[in-house]
Amino acid sequence: MPARTVYLETFGCQMNELDSELVAGQLRSLGYAFAPDPEAADVVLYNTCSVREHAEQKVWSRLGELAARKRREPGLVVGVLGCLAERDGTDLARRMPVVDILCGPGELDKLPALLDNAVRTREALAADETPGPRLVSAQQFALQGNASRRSATLAAAEDNLEMLDLSRAISPIDRNGSAYVRITRGCNKFCTYCVVPFTRGAEVHRPPRHIIDECKRLADAGVIEVTLLGQTVNHYRFEHGSAVTVGGVVQPQKGRSYAGGHARDPFAGAHTTTFADLLARIHDEVPAIERLRFVTSYPRDFGDDVLEAIRDHPRICRYLHVPAQSGSDRILKAMNRGYSASEYLEFLDRARAHLDTPDRPLMVSGDFIVGFPTETDDDFAATTRLVERARYKSAFIFKYSPRPGTVAFDKLPDDVPEDTKRRRNNDLLALQSRISDEIARAQVGRTARVMVEGVSRREMKRSGLTKSEIRRRESVTLTVGGREPIADPPRAEEAPPAISVQLTARTDGDLIVLFDAPPGRAPADLIGRIVPVRIDSADRLSLHATML
Ligand code: SAH
Ligand code: SF4
Ligand code: F3S
Repeated sequence: MPARTVYLETFGCQMNELDSELVAGQLRSLGYAFAPDPEAADVVLYNTCSVREHAEQKVWSRLGELAARKRREPGLVVGVLGCLAERDGTDLARRMPVVDILCGPGELDKLPALLDNAVRTREALAADETPGPRLVSAQQFALQGNASRRSATLAAAEDNLEMLDLSRAISPIDRNGSAYVRITRGCNKFCTYCVVPFTRGAEVHRPPRHIIDECKRLADAGVIEVTLLGQTVNHYRFEHGSAVTVGGVVQPQKGRSYAGGHARDPFAGAHTTTFADLLARIHDEVPAIERLRFVTSYPRDFGDDVLEAIRDHPRICRYLHVPAQSGSDRILKAMNRGYSASEYLEFLDRARAHLDTPDRPLMVSGDFIVGFPTETDDDFAATTRLVERARYKSAFIFKYSPRPGTVAFDKLPDDVPEDTKRRRNNDLLALQSRISDEIARAQVGRTARVMVEGVSRREMKRSGLTKSEIRRRESVTLTVGGREPIADPPRAEEAPPAISVQLTARTDGDLIVLFDAPPGRAPADLIGRIVPVRIDSADRLSLHATML
């Protein structure tokens, strides 16, 4: 079979970005190459998100564009991976015959086999010269369907999925010193608006030994910043001994082997590793990791032990992403969030009492949904009061999007008119912009240590490169955890630029900082490192600084 070239584009959250990285590593090891543009590829894969309708629409339009191309190039293979594949499953395949492969996020270990089959079938179809109707579709599916929450099926699936993380191809290229590490899969919270428990399945915590070994291997490859991933990271809990935690319930575990060939976790015993323990262990056992961060936290599960672990371990960042979703107790209840607005604010006060110091301010960010069914002006006013009080450095604000399969979709009509949703969205954005601006201005004059992530987007544009060149460069060396398609590295080193180049970096509290590489310092020497800067000025989106 001739070597195939893959275009892989990622939508959605960091979890999907990590999945794409794992898939790309796996496919590379099987001889596939990667292209930065779909036109240059004969396999097009979309790793999709289903969290809002808008996220799905982007994929629909991409697939629509491919249909015409596929008529001209019958050998083209198209795959939909991730949460949309899992949520819409075979309906999607029926509506979109251009799709050859559907692979849910819980089945990604099966992708190489699906792809191999699809490539062979399409090649046979392309070579078939016999007149008459052609088979347009040769679809292959790997979806969990309803099996994803049955523990026996889950345990088997989890072992295979765990292998995908364990066999992660770690190479020093294309990561700019930063990496994601999964600690928890799935979610058990069932917020009434949310598809994630259906697309990602039941909550499963990875063994701490696997997580720490992965961090060590990343550190050996030059990674100095690790972001731990989970839908509710602070709910992490691993029961040691002969058991694995599945959905908070201890399941018997037979013949499980651990990374490095241990038959049992060497730290096994009659005890539990909590999230606070895990943070402390990674911090202490992998000293080469200069920054340890984690997303996303759930407001209700935050014990003081976690706050103390952050406080007492200096390389853990003072940054919490802890979505509130609403400030109205009635709406929070309808969302099944399990806390009230005052409990949420008490948590923030407690976090700030532990972690907010003049030299290391605690930065907090949040998510909100406006226009949840039955949300009144009074409910929305409660949200604005919470935002005023919470003093987020930034917040993601979304208009409610009804998702098939969720409780809210089935039980609550989407009764807030679109223009009301839009107005609330804009009002909340304006309020948050003012607060973000105030927080940014308070940083002016400070010095900070920042992690350099790459050349700024503005810089890339100023350099006169085409959009696709910008994307290509960012995707190979210049973006940390970005959403650009995964591509193979360029063959030759870029010549160092003659002019000073604007770099983008992040503070410990996740604030974006822009600064010029000092004369005589090649950007490549600074990217992926932590450097000291002085903050000179601020606007809502970024801080501007000088390297010290
Ligand atoms: N596990 C995280 C959130 C994951 S989804 C948590 O619990 O905080 C990311 C964000 O998408 C959510 O925080 C929520 O604000 C938003 N979101 C999820 N479902 C949505 C929906 N149906 N409509 C609009 N926004 C939604
Ligand atoms: Fe979705 Fe709620 Fe789980 Fe977050 S905690 S992923 S919002 S169900
Ligand atoms: Fe989207 Fe799935 Fe992440 S729905 S937000 S890609 S878990």
